[in-house]
Amino acid sequence: MKGIKILGTGHYLPERIATNDDFSKIVDTSDEWITSRTGIKERRIASGEPVWYMGVNAARDALLDAQLDASEIDLILHTSVTPDFYTPSMACMVQRDIGAKNAIGIDVNCACSGFVYALDIAAKYLQDDQYKNILIVSSEKLSKITDYSDRGTCVLFGDAAAACIITKGDGMFFSYLGAQVEDADKLFARTITDDNPFCDDNDQQKYDKFSDSNGQYIYMDGREVYKFAIKAIPKAIKGACDKAGVDVNSIDMIVPHQANVRIMETAAANLGLSIDKFYMNLELYGNTSSASVPLCLDEFIKEGGLKEGMRICVVGFGGGLTYGAAIFDL
Ligand code: UT7
Repeated sequence: MKGIKILGTGHYLPERIATNDDFSKIVDTSDEWITSRTGIKERRIASGEPVWYMGVNAARDALLDAQLDASEIDLILHTSVTPDFYTPSMACMVQRDIGAKNAIGIDVNCACSGFVYALDIAAKYLQDDQYKNILIVSSEKLSKITDYSDRGTCVLFGDAAAACIITKGDGMFFSYLGAQVEDADKLFARTITDDNPFCDDNDQQKYDKFSDSNGQYIYMDGREVYKFAIKAIPKAIKGACDKAGVDVNSIDMIVPHQANVRIMETAAANLGLSIDKFYMNLELYGNTSSASVPLCLDEFIKEGGLKEGMRICVVGFGGGLTYGAAIFDL
């Protein structure tokens, strides 16, 4: 398969910062617990700005970085677990506001693996000459679906948007995607249940084994997802390397979904790699679902870390339970 080239990246971060100490005022927790168990120190919380607005700002930042006009974008892939609408899609909203008059847009929902799945879709679309420049926007407002009375989850999540524009490249691109769907009920946030005079909640309970998650709030069995993540990361990275016919040691930088520093340390040990190969910024932003990988990429590139010829691996895991890695040379 032909490779990809990153033309530009961008981000949008809400201004409001919520520290661990702020959380100790609303739930029974402490900076010590959150820092030692997760590595998170603070996160951003949106102040009313919609998901599409955050995505539009990240997309504009990426266009500026790529020195491209929005009319040169052929495809927009938008990832989110917190879209503003059932319809139109977030991709259409971004397309409208940046003025990408020649693009089509598709929403991708693969939870925290969303960016990796979107990158894989983009790499495949690039094989069609009709699609030259592809914009991936990952915009997440976890605060919309966070239960701020549940200390086990509320301290983890943050709001952010990040974007990445890619085109065809000369290097290699291989991916390994999967899902442990039998554990879908270990991490979920429901849509609102049917609300019509002919159907009550009891009727709906018959159709799935998902526990009542107090409406639309995120439910997560942290320990089970943890166990899944420490196996899924090495499996996905090794899977992508095997397909590419390269050794994991040949990867220069791994950009993982930012869920928990202990998950990354264990995954690194399982792969026999130094933790220094894992890019991390969760200390400042917490878990921003699908936005976390492109947010890291943007930061890594803007601080001058990315060099031509480098071998990069992006890896995600989350609701579904989905997982996936993509390895590519720049
Ligand atoms: O992005 C999607 C993927 N998500 C993930 O990868 C998340 C995976 N899971 C995790 O990162 C970890 O499981 C958590 C950070 C969510 C939890 O850490 P843990 O070390 O697995 O803690 P635990 O759930 O086993 O809970 C240990 C104790 C419990 O108390 P008891 O039962 O031992 O008395 C919890 O009630 O810690 C308690 N606890 C807290 N204490 C203070 C749970 N949350 C908190 C909290 N502050 N915020």
